[in-house]
Amino acid sequence: MTETAPATARNAHATCSDVTAVAYARLEPEAASVARARRHVTAALCAWGLEQVVDAAVLVTSELVTNAVEHTASATIKLGVFLSTERRARVEVWDQSKNRPVRRAAGPEEDSGRGLVVVAKMSERWGTDMNDTGKSVWAVLRPPTGIAPPPP
Ligand SMILES: Nc1ncnc2c1ncn2[C@@H]1O[C@H](COP(=O)(O)OP(=O)(O)OP(=O)(O)O)[C@@H](O)[C@H]1O
Ligand SMILES: [Mg+2]
Repeated sequence: MTETAPATARNAHATCSDVTAVAYARLEPEAASVARARRHVTAALCAWGLEQVVDAAVLVTSELVTNAVEHTASATIKLGVFLSTERRARVEVWDQSKNRPVRRAAGPEEDSGRGLVVVAKMSERWGTDMNDTGKSVWAVLRPPTGIAPPPP
């Protein structure tokens, strides 16, 4: 499922000089794909030495893939993890719906409507890119912050 490509890899949203590695996965439009997506993202980030962003990436990926499964009638969903030359990780999920995700303000009693709030909180920026077949929803993860060592 995981394909890792070197710096020559092309994708629609970055030039070769911006991206140093990519890992794509094709997912079925089913609930089990969410766990597969989490494993895929974790494997890619660990392979790239970015363990510190795995927790955030897993949350973001869960929300984006769940949305693609639940809110679209896509025949297939594609997941991409990108590593920039500045060591920023981006998670991107393609689906085949032309409807844009809309961030909601879920009330305290509502049991849904918080997924994109989680994405926004856990990422540096996120967005939607429309394309001929649907769209991708992407999030750039916050870079790891330095944690000061405890005093001696
Ligand atoms: N990939 C998508 N394609 C089309 N519409 C989407 C997509 N993702 C989200 N949406 C729309 O945006 C709304 C907000 O998404 P969000 O993830 O915040 O909440 P939710 O999926 O409704 O609930 P929760 O994530 O809390 O279970 C959704 O209700 C849906 O209408
Ligand atoms: Mg959601």
